[in-house]
Amino acid sequence: MTAARDIIRQRMPDVAPRVAITLGSGLGDLGDQVEGATLIDYADLPGFPQTTVSGHSGALILGELGGVAICLLRGRAHYYEQGDAGAMASAIETMAALGVETMLMTNAAGSLQVETGPGNPMLITDHVNFAGANPLIGVEGDRRFVNLSDAYDPALNAILRETAAERGIPLAEGTYMWFSGPSFETPAEIRAAATLGASAVGMSTVPEVILARYHRLRVCAVSLITNLAAGLSDEVLSHDHTKTMAAIGAEAMERLITGFLEHYGVEVPRPEEAGDDG
Ligand code: HPA
Repeated sequence: MTAARDIIRQRMPDVAPRVAITLGSGLGDLGDQVEGATLIDYADLPGFPQTTVSGHSGALILGELGGVAICLLRGRAHYYEQGDAGAMASAIETMAALGVETMLMTNAAGSLQVETGPGNPMLITDHVNFAGANPLIGVEGDRRFVNLSDAYDPALNAILRETAAERGIPLAEGTYMWFSGPSFETPAEIRAAATLGASAVGMSTVPEVILARYHRLRVCAVSLITNLAAGLSDEVLSHDHTKTMAAIGAEAMERLITGFLEHYGVEVPRPEEAGDDG
């Protein structure tokens, strides 16, 4: 039971989102495509982060997309904002309490694969936590020892690959390495990341994936590549550059997400008896 869940249920007694989607930089416009949308400001939801995205305040957008009941999380808190790896803990706990089955995470990332450049989506198949932080530090009970093998759900990954192939969207894949930010990486750090098996680097998502798996939600994740990582091109990295390039790739990401949901609604059975452990 969470206070935020109760507030959402008071406003929308029949709400039953199956999929929650976190929107990374540049993807906030997906909210415009949600049918029957109800928007609830994070400011009205206890425990949700106070954040702004492209001039919008953080908000949940509940409705239907691709024929599936969904909840968009427009706006996320990052570890680099307050040094709190659990900044999204209440938001994700609320998704679980609402009966969400699956979280689709998106983010902007720098690519270590030179053939996967700005504007390309990359399916995240695994991660390396290079920030040294964990959102479950301080959480009690044996459930905190979360198994992260197959954290990025193979069956959901297959749906994303199928959707991309069918819609002609080139979809790279690889391992996402989480750096704390907010500074970008150095070229030496990117060489180290390559040695450690990273395909892309970014400043978000990993803590949310850990939290989602803690709540036994299924997870899949896609990066929108906004640049080649530090030292791999002459481009000067900046947040403005990230936002500009995210806007260019946003259309492909939106088609991928909507297509994924169309498949999801048809192919993924509802969990038998969703246990309410609130
Ligand atoms: N590094 C970290 N985070 C990012 C990058 C990057 O190169 N690009 C977009 N987000």
